[in-house]
Amino acid sequence: MSVVVTQRVHEAQLDRLRSAGLDVVGPLADGPPPRAELLAAARGAGALLTLLTDRVDAELLDAAPSLRVVANVAVGYDNIDVAGAAARGVLVTNTPGVLTEATADLAMGLLLAVARRIPEADAAVRDGRFPPWGLFQELIGSDVAGARLGIVGLGRIGRAVARRAALGFGMHVLYAGGAPDPSDAWAGGAEAVGFEELLARADFVSLHAPLTPATRHLVDEAALRAMQPGAVLVNTARGPLVDEAALARALSGGWIAGAGLDVFEREPEVEAALLASRRAVLTPHLGSATARTRLRMCATAVDNVLAVAAGSVPPNLVAHR
Ligand code: GLV
Repeated sequence: MSVVVTQRVHEAQLDRLRSAGLDVVGPLADGPPPRAELLAAARGAGALLTLLTDRVDAELLDAAPSLRVVANVAVGYDNIDVAGAAARGVLVTNTPGVLTEATADLAMGLLLAVARRIPEADAAVRDGRFPPWGLFQELIGSDVAGARLGIVGLGRIGRAVARRAALGFGMHVLYAGGAPDPSDAWAGGAEAVGFEELLARADFVSLHAPLTPATRHLVDEAALRAMQPGAVLVNTARGPLVDEAALARALSGGWIAGAGLDVFEREPEVEAALLASRRAVLTPHLGSATARTRLRMCATAVDNVLAVAAGSVPPNLVAHR
């Protein structure tokens, strides 16, 4: 079986494919390959090893008549036409679990960075604007300990954020969608609420839902207006969960106090009004970006390809929603 690798991945993981007798084609490019090249390479592919910046749509699936599996090196798979793959008998796999802790760390990092204004403070010190210490000095932030955190989507990553927030930071956790595991030590103090109630009560709202037609623009103008004026939105899930233009209006209009964003509606483009906002802390889709996590993601995707090549059910088969 031939495995087409769209973008640069860990070489030692490709060696695992070669050792199993598979023919590795690529990596086609360092970043997303030109579409024509991807379509041409797909012709002989039994497997595609893709990143989340590769669009696997009907055109690509049709260009790959021998395709058996698309192994995405990501937990999210909104870049893949899963229904189209299923209709053509092509399996889709993802890399859940291995990136949970790293992504939860970044969500907490953004929450803290916005609450305590860390990037603004860093810029002030570097610019020689060290403010005199005073009870009402510049760069006063908001409390994290004791605040209410609303988690939208209590899945693997949402639960890891809840654990940090409740046990590490003494936050009160509200959640909409999903459920804690009975083994979650913090679960007794967490409250299941509806989305509207979560928006109305949370000091921090952190998004951990997948991108589907139902969750696109889940946080729209109405949702932003329903949040507290002192609230902060954190998004480490997928950009299109938030109406970015409405968010820019919410920040400039003071409907909410701040936002910590790792994902954007049209990556790598970012709304100019967000770039200009001092109340937004922006990172370039780094949720899983630690060396160990990225290696484990790659290894997990390769495990999935090897399973399909061996005629087994891959460990991380994605169900068609
Ligand atoms: C990253 O965004 C992922 O889905 O793994």
